[in-house]
Amino acid sequence: MIKPKEFIEEKVQEIKEVDGKAVVGCSGGVDSTVSSVIASKALGDDLLAIYVDTGYMRKNETEEMDSILEEMGVNHKVIDAKEEFYEEMEGVSDPEEKRKIIGNKFIEIFEREAEKFGADYLVQGTIAPDWIESGDENRDTIKSHHNVGGLPEKMGLDLIEPLYDLYKDEVRKVARELGISTAEKQPFPGPGLAIRVIGEATPEKTEIVREACHIVENEIDKAVEEGKMERPWQYFAVLLPVKTVGVQGDKRAYGHTIAIRAVQSSDAMTARFSRIPLDVLDRISTKITNEMKDEVNRVVYDVTNKPPGTIEWE
Ligand code: XMP
Repeated sequence: MIKPKEFIEEKVQEIKEVDGKAVVGCSGGVDSTVSSVIASKALGDDLLAIYVDTGYMRKNETEEMDSILEEMGVNHKVIDAKEEFYEEMEGVSDPEEKRKIIGNKFIEIFEREAEKFGADYLVQGTIAPDWIESGDENRDTIKSHHNVGGLPEKMGLDLIEPLYDLYKDEVRKVARELGISTAEKQPFPGPGLAIRVIGEATPEKTEIVREACHIVENEIDKAVEEGKMERPWQYFAVLLPVKTVGVQGDKRAYGHTIAIRAVQSSDAMTARFSRIPLDVLDRISTKITNEMKDEVNRVVYDVTNKPPGTIEWE
């Protein structure tokens, strides 16, 4: 197990050797936040952290990231690209197509900003499980270009990967040592809420799943603090493409269906659905159908393990 304080000092010293400017794509996740903060300690304003708001972020995520990076003194830029993303996603309902469009759009924006900044290096939050299964071998923190997970070769940037040998629990330790308030944050997929709206992820449907995810997260966080349950590996809401009949007051209603997904896992390769206490499920369901009564009138709980299911629904 690493010693976080020594680890940070060592990585900062290593990155100080770099001659030039670096960019980092800050997604809001723990890995990219920790990488940004460490690189910033070494490079100061020669590092630019780029956060792209795709429109598929969690509620308040953009504001939170902006203030965390500000607090940590990381030179950063928030790009509001919501409209650009929504436009490209119009009429698209296939999950892989959605992933491709979001990935490509992200790269286009990121490249544009990296070029403007005049970057020579790309900092990435790669951690050990990201490469172990692909059979890569042990490497230094700073290496020349390899497969950068979607960022095209033509960027021609050398890589800095301070967290390359760490596991998630070690990254969280380093995050705590750095004083990053989101050290315990759950993983969030790159395409974000776009793959939590089944089918076309319109702005309206995205708003519904954003609010529902927020409620699921808050209620489960509360239940964990009250000692009612263990914190799941991931917990969120999915908006299904199914409308069902309900009643509101004395009227018939016809509204959307939300599925709650919560799983225990250690690496996301396999997972078991979380045994959420029924009173907690009741609280979540009641809150969603009260606060979102114009949109949602049915809430279901996903009791599928992985395999055969996956964690996300798309
Ligand atoms: P699945 O749904 O395949 O997810 O069981 C395993 C883990 O990966 C996350 N996930 C993604 N992460 N881009 C990402 O960066 C993606 O396209 C993507 N799809 C799934 C998921 O949240 C879970 O942690």
